[in-house]
Amino acid sequence: MMQVSREFFSMPQSERLKSYSDDPSKTTRLSTSFNVKTEKVSNWRDFLRLHCYPLEDYLHEWPSSPTSFREDVAEYSRRIRKVALRLLEAISESLGLERDYIDRALGKHGQHMALNYYPPCPQPELTYGLPGHADPNVITILLQDDVPGLQVLNNGKWLAVNPIPHTFIINIGDQIQVLSNDRYKSVLHRAVVNSYKERISIPTFYCPSPEAIIAPAPKLIDEEHPCQYKSFTYTEYYQKFWNRGLAKETCLDLFRATPYI
Ligand code: OGA
Ligand code: NI
Repeated sequence: MMQVSREFFSMPQSERLKSYSDDPSKTTRLSTSFNVKTEKVSNWRDFLRLHCYPLEDYLHEWPSSPTSFREDVAEYSRRIRKVALRLLEAISESLGLERDYIDRALGKHGQHMALNYYPPCPQPELTYGLPGHADPNVITILLQDDVPGLQVLNNGKWLAVNPIPHTFIINIGDQIQVLSNDRYKSVLHRAVVNSYKERISIPTFYCPSPEAIIAPAPKLIDEEHPCQYKSFTYTEYYQKFWNRGLAKETCLDLFRATPYI
C-alpha cells in the first residue's frame, strides 16, 4: 500500500489530475486540503479518497495507474474489512451487546479509504496537514509510514502518536460514541507537517451505509444513562461533517437529545 501510494503521488500532475474533483459527494476523487469549497485557510495535504465496499461498485472508478493500483488496493481493502468486522464484534461484546449488534446497526455497511500525502512544508508552524477533528464514521484503521505527524488530544494536551512499524492505529469515530450512548468517546486528533520529509498515511474509514438510522443502543439507555442522541441517518451526519469544516469539536453536539447551547 505504501509503495503504490508513493508511486501514485509521484506521477506527473497531468496524470494525477485525471482523478481530481472538489465535490465531496464523489465516490472517487483526488483533492487537496480538506474541503476547498468551504474553507478559507488551506491545509498542507493532498488526498485520494476511494469508496471500497462493495468493491465491484467502485473498482472501475479507481485510478488505473500505477498499473498495480487497482489490484493492490482492492486486496488491501478486502483484508482490512475483515479486521474491521472483528473489531466491531469485539466492541459490541465489550458493551454487553450481541456480538453482531453493530454489524446490524450499520445496514449494508460502507468502507472508504484515503491515501493522505503530506509533502514537506517550508513553514510547518503556519499550517496543519489536518487540523483537530474526530472522524465521523464508526472506526478508522490507520496505516502510517515511519514519519511522525499524528497527534491525539489527551486530557487537554496534544500527544504525538509516533509510528510503530507493522501496527495500525484504531480510532473510535463518532458513530460508536452514539451507538454506545457515550460509553465510548470518539477521539480528537490532527496531523502536523514537517519541513524535511514527506509523510503518507492511509486511513480506512469503516461506515454505516448512507441510509442506516443511527441511535444509541436501547440496552444502553436507562435512568442512570438517559438517551444522549436523537436518531439520524448517516447521510444527514456525513453532510454536516463535510459542510461545517474541521473544528476542535465533533459534529456530535448537533445531534444531542438535549442540544448544547
Ligand atoms: C484522517 C486523519 C491522520 C493522519 O484522514 O481523518 O485523521 O495521520 N489522518 O494522517
Ligand atoms: Ni481523522
